[in-house]
Amino acid sequence: MYKTHTCGELRAEHIGKTVSLAGWVHRRRDHGGVTFIDLRDRFGLVQIVLNPETSPDGHKLAESIRMEWVIQVEGLVRRRPEGAENPNLPTGEIEVEVHTLKILNPAKTPPFLINKDEEADENTRLKYRYLDLRREKMRNNIELRHRVVKFIRDYLDQKGFLEVETPILFKTTPEGARDYLVPSRVHPGEFYALPQSPQQLKQLLMVGGIERYFQIARCFRDEDQRGDRQPEFTQLDLEMSFVEREDVMDLIEDMFTKMIAKVVPEKKIYSTPFPRFKYQEVMERFGKDNPDIRFGLELVNISDLVEHSGFSVFDQAIQSGGFVRGINAKGLGNYTRKQIDELTDLVRQFGAKGLAYIAYTSDGEIRSTFAKFLSPQLQQTIFERMQADKGDLLLFVADKAEVVYESLGRLRVSLAEKLNLLDPDVLAFCWVIDFPYVVWNEDEKRWDPSHHLFTSPMEEDIPLLETDPGKARGQQYDLVLNNYEIGGGSIRIHDRKLQEKVFKLIGLDEDVARERFGHMLEAFEYGTPPHGGIAPGIDRICMILAGEPNIREVIAFPKNQAARDVMADAPSPADLKQLEELHIQVVYPPDLT
Ligand code: AMO
Ligand code: AMP
Repeated sequence: MYKTHTCGELRAEHIGKTVSLAGWVHRRRDHGGVTFIDLRDRFGLVQIVLNPETSPDGHKLAESIRMEWVIQVEGLVRRRPEGAENPNLPTGEIEVEVHTLKILNPAKTPPFLINKDEEADENTRLKYRYLDLRREKMRNNIELRHRVVKFIRDYLDQKGFLEVETPILFKTTPEGARDYLVPSRVHPGEFYALPQSPQQLKQLLMVGGIERYFQIARCFRDEDQRGDRQPEFTQLDLEMSFVEREDVMDLIEDMFTKMIAKVVPEKKIYSTPFPRFKYQEVMERFGKDNPDIRFGLELVNISDLVEHSGFSVFDQAIQSGGFVRGINAKGLGNYTRKQIDELTDLVRQFGAKGLAYIAYTSDGEIRSTFAKFLSPQLQQTIFERMQADKGDLLLFVADKAEVVYESLGRLRVSLAEKLNLLDPDVLAFCWVIDFPYVVWNEDEKRWDPSHHLFTSPMEEDIPLLETDPGKARGQQYDLVLNNYEIGGGSIRIHDRKLQEKVFKLIGLDEDVARERFGHMLEAFEYGTPPHGGIAPGIDRICMILAGEPNIREVIAFPKNQAARDVMADAPSPADLKQLEELHIQVVYPPDLT
């Protein structure tokens, strides 16, 4: 046995005990001929002391020791001398006087400091992830993730759920991304698809009578990388039989409320029950369907007020069916022209043609892009509607709805950052419901499912699928937390005819539908219970709870932004022999040959 105790657990009550410890050399100091080492393992740090008088061999050996060497010591726990206690360290009252020291393994000098959370280049951190994982922040994140998943497992077990594993080598389960394909050696020219989610399988488990299923499930999606996206990521995948929308939402709400209290008790939930918004409402108020509701700065429609103002920017947008909406950036009325130009550049990135404004300075002066058209009466009605006071800055975008929402939705979050309104200790969960069932895909000239093709439309909207599909609503729900969509789910179709109708509506050819999803259609004919579920993204949740800016920080071995594993260097070319066995010939794009 290498250790009788962990480095983090020794306290005053252990004084007088002889202990064995093993770990990494976190820091080494020499003081008046005595060597002090902070010894670290996953559980914490403890100070060990090598005195040339009591341990001449150990002290001599310690001279060669460097940071990150792995050592083992045996020694006596004793109280630190008065004045030498460290109240910031849980083991700070004691130290271990070493009798014997053994070097288990030396270490090269790490490419970045392990004992300080100072900035290190991310690619270097990823290349040496095994060293990065030794750092305190990463260790905390990995622990947090463990506690989140452990809580989920215990909670769902108590509620009668069974954890069931589903295959990774499967068939396409489309969630809107590209599939990762795996070639079959034994079936030339045929491929498995890695699941974008276990969606089909969890529904088939409901047909299989499991009734309450969950899985900490790995999902694979070949899509553009972002801070909150990885090509492989983890969902809490969950499905229940004999439930309605409220049943699933209530369960998830209860689970998260209790999880927060247990795992991150220092954080506050903004509101329980979680507020529920209709899709239309979140778009109008926040400009996006994953709204951050920790702060105001809501979008306000002023189209009716400025309709005939004479300002051509507004008039043209309204005449072509668009809107004028604005945000009252409270307290920014004294912004300079240059500062407003920066905000204009931001909205331009999201499609807006410009940013009109009324700045009401703290001295009561008014500056505006459309001052010429701003009659005292118009000014007053706008101020009233937007609750503007001295010192406020009103910012407007005129365009078609999508552009107004996208640009002001982004501007709103950016203003909140500038105004310091994003309290990381507040967790603002909310639900978004009543999404449109399908959205028009202008490029392909067809309807696309707004969630996925197994989601059920609202019962009363089924007739609309034939008459006016754009007006139909789906039985889906998104769970949103502080500006991120952290989960999505729905009540499913459990009737073959309705499922076929939906395939037809979204332009899925009958033969293709049968080839891809024939097993689902067939299963629906064998007594399928009404069912529904959800899949919260574990990585995103842990990222938010850990206060991290991207999900790579809560994944032990993530891919970088170019979807590469830079530690193992994957993906990498395959041997010719392997390719032959797989019946595959690589055709390189022209710029790579
Ligand atoms: P959806 O596609 O909305 O639903 O995904 C659910 C949740 O998974 C997380 N997520 C991701 N996390 C990291 N990287 C990614 N590339 C990524 N893509 C998605 C998000 C998202 O909210 N089968 C349905 C669920 C259901 O209907 O029950 C599904 O996968 O947090
Ligand atoms: P322009 O007519 O392009 O010179 O723009 C006049 C002013 O209106 C500038 O300050 C622009 O930033 C602003 N502006 C232009 N287009 C829009 C728009 N679609 N919405 C809001 N403001 C705009």
